[in-house]
Amino acid sequence: MSSAPRPVIIKGTGSYTPQKVLTNNDLSDIVDTSDEWIFTRTGIRERRIAGDDETASTMGAEAGKRAIENAGLNADDIDVIVVGTMTPDMPFPSTACLVQTKLGISNAISFDVEAACSGFLYIMEVASGLLQTGRYRNALVIGTEKLSSILDWQDRTTCVLFGDGAGAAVLSLGEEGCKSGILDFKLGSDGSKADVLLQPGGGCAIPASLASIENRQHFLKMRGREVFKLAVKVMGQAAVEILEQNGVEPDQLNCVIPHQANMRIIESLSSRLHIPIERFFLNLDKYGNTSAASIPIALDEAVRAGRLKSGDTILLVAFGAGLTWGSTLLRW
Ligand SMILES: CC(C)(COP(=O)(O)OP(=O)(O)OC[C@H]1O[C@@H](n2cnc3c(N)ncnc32)[C@H](O)[C@@H]1OP(=O)(O)O)[C@@H](O)C(=O)NCCC(=O)NCCS
Repeated sequence: MSSAPRPVIIKGTGSYTPQKVLTNNDLSDIVDTSDEWIFTRTGIRERRIAGDDETASTMGAEAGKRAIENAGLNADDIDVIVVGTMTPDMPFPSTACLVQTKLGISNAISFDVEAACSGFLYIMEVASGLLQTGRYRNALVIGTEKLSSILDWQDRTTCVLFGDGAGAAVLSLGEEGCKSGILDFKLGSDGSKADVLLQPGGGCAIPASLASIENRQHFLKMRGREVFKLAVKVMGQAAVEILEQNGVEPDQLNCVIPHQANMRIIESLSSRLHIPIERFFLNLDKYGNTSAASIPIALDEAVRAGRLKSGDTILLVAFGAGLTWGSTLLRW
């Protein structure tokens, strides 16, 4: 008789956010906006901005180092590094390879996955699949973003929403019969909606040129209202489907860690699931939307704040450019 596959567990978490705080009031000196407008529409009060010497790989390496320490492991124990980012240090080599050398990890496979704000859930599923082949022991998954480097600081409709930071987790196979771990993933994408949220320049379609710079094509562009409606729909679906698939009632969830993009989107998820907002872990007010870093920073803060207890059922749920979306069900 074949035994049940060993579950993938989260062995450790870590995060890093830059020191520099940019408040809504600071932003009102840069563009025509106000703390009142930003807070009532989004729930954001402030965000962190990386220094000139900080990049996706430096922040990601720091978050990764803290996750390895938290897991009680050493650099040598890591044999897979997957980074989720839409602001890599450079088009190539991958940010994961840059993190590898910064952490002194000598014997690992390292690569990036680009799934925008859903990136962390995508890399968790990819790394879990690799671990379940039995060929690898411990995977370091990192969501890291320097979004300030692609924001148009003349565009008040986008620059007020985002921030910088990194979050990480070490995934490993749990012991046979172990009750905690990742229960399921439900990921999705719809490339027909690619034009609602994108950075048009900088790839091979529109390489850097004087014209691309004059046309501000290297900055993030978003049709906010459309993204809002799509986000409400796909996040709700991703959450409902994974719960139904696993026979879990919303009321059985001890904690929901959503992608931290907008408080109104999170509130709509809370009412669709009939789960009080107090059961959601939120840090959106402090960091804004940090894309692929958003869920792992929140996860790490929830762990360190003692919000997650052994045996808890936890839902992670995200959406982002692509469109991409996803949900992950965990038993802590
Ligand atoms: C961006 C968002 C907050 C805008 O809120 P909204 O209620 O849809 O606002 P609108 O875009 O309709 O704009 C309303 C007005 O506010 C103005 N406005 C936009 N940004 C502003 C700002 N930062 N400060 C002040 N006014 C602003 C607009 O110009 C518009 O003015 P007008 O009526 O005179 O034309 C909202 O659409 C949103 O959260 N979308 C989802 C974004 C998101 O989560 N993206 C990440 C996906 S991972």
